[in-house]
Amino acid sequence: MTTDTSAASAAAAAAAPAPTGTAATAQRILRVGPVNPQVARTLDEEFDALVLPSDPAERAAFLAEQAGGIRIAVCSGRVGVDTELMRSLPDLEAIINFGVGYDATDVAQAAERGIPLSNTPDVLNDCVADTALALYLDTLRQVSAADRFVRAGRWAAGEGFPLTARASGRTVGILGLGRIGTAIAQRLGAFGCRIHYHNRSERPESGYTYHRTVRELAEAVDVLVVAASGGPDSVGIVGAAELAALGPQGHLVNIARGTVVDEDALVAALTEGTIAGAGLDVYEREPQVPEALFGLENVVLLPHVGSGTRETRADMAELVLSNLRRYLADGTLLTPIS
Ligand code: 8YV
Repeated sequence: MTTDTSAASAAAAAAAPAPTGTAATAQRILRVGPVNPQVARTLDEEFDALVLPSDPAERAAFLAEQAGGIRIAVCSGRVGVDTELMRSLPDLEAIINFGVGYDATDVAQAAERGIPLSNTPDVLNDCVADTALALYLDTLRQVSAADRFVRAGRWAAGEGFPLTARASGRTVGILGLGRIGTAIAQRLGAFGCRIHYHNRSERPESGYTYHRTVRELAEAVDVLVVAASGGPDSVGIVGAAELAALGPQGHLVNIARGTVVDEDALVAALTEGTIAGAGLDVYEREPQVPEALFGLENVVLLPHVGSGTRETRADMAELVLSNLRRYLADGTLLTPIS
């Protein structure tokens, strides 16, 4: 298994001493929403960062007093700098995002105002791909359901667990053949799977089979793995028609963003048997998960833990802080979004 450490080593190379005291205060930094504890502590202790209140009334009062002079916002993939918040920060110069996904931030407004934005690419590829494989295996082989079966005493009582679907040697579609999608495809290669994909642009160098549309991809595969970025361009690109194309023996895995899949259509497809099962790490309105899924044995539900290992979160935290230090040192970001 290979690990892409390019961003991590670039981060180490850029580790410049943190400006403290007046220099940091002059560059007023705002923490938006909860972030990784290591990042929150460093922002507070080294950078004297402000924290945006979550309560709407408190937030309005805070912004009325503090908005002017805030130059840098540190946010996460879950709580970004949205349209309204960005509009209320007239002096905002840079946004530093914890997470590879930045769909919670208004990137169009940032681009219009020339505000650069960094994310945390590469360092989480392996863990997110591992999570996708865990969901893939669990969804097809029903590991979690079998565990529940044993704990409920059903095996001991003489019942047999139903047969499941073979996971090796299947045809798998990757929706979004970026860094994470590629790491998933490589792992599936070790399971003897044939890889098909749909991506904004064709990637002939991958050697995988390309499909022009999501629907054609879904029609051609046994399992569809969603690894596409969130944001306005990908909302609902897996809908009722794509799920119907996947078919009653087909499975869906989503480790990307809940918004990429039409959740109502997914719930209907799972309850009506339009598809066989699903493994989900992400949802449209996190942390809300459609209750209709709770009673289904053919669904594996994770609480958005794709990158959630101690090691990867520490690497992401380091990259966030390296971006911040670099910006304070020379006005550039280490891993700006491309
Ligand atoms: C994080 C993620 O859980 O990187 C992303 O885009 O979805 C996850 O790694 C999330 O960003 C934390 O805010």
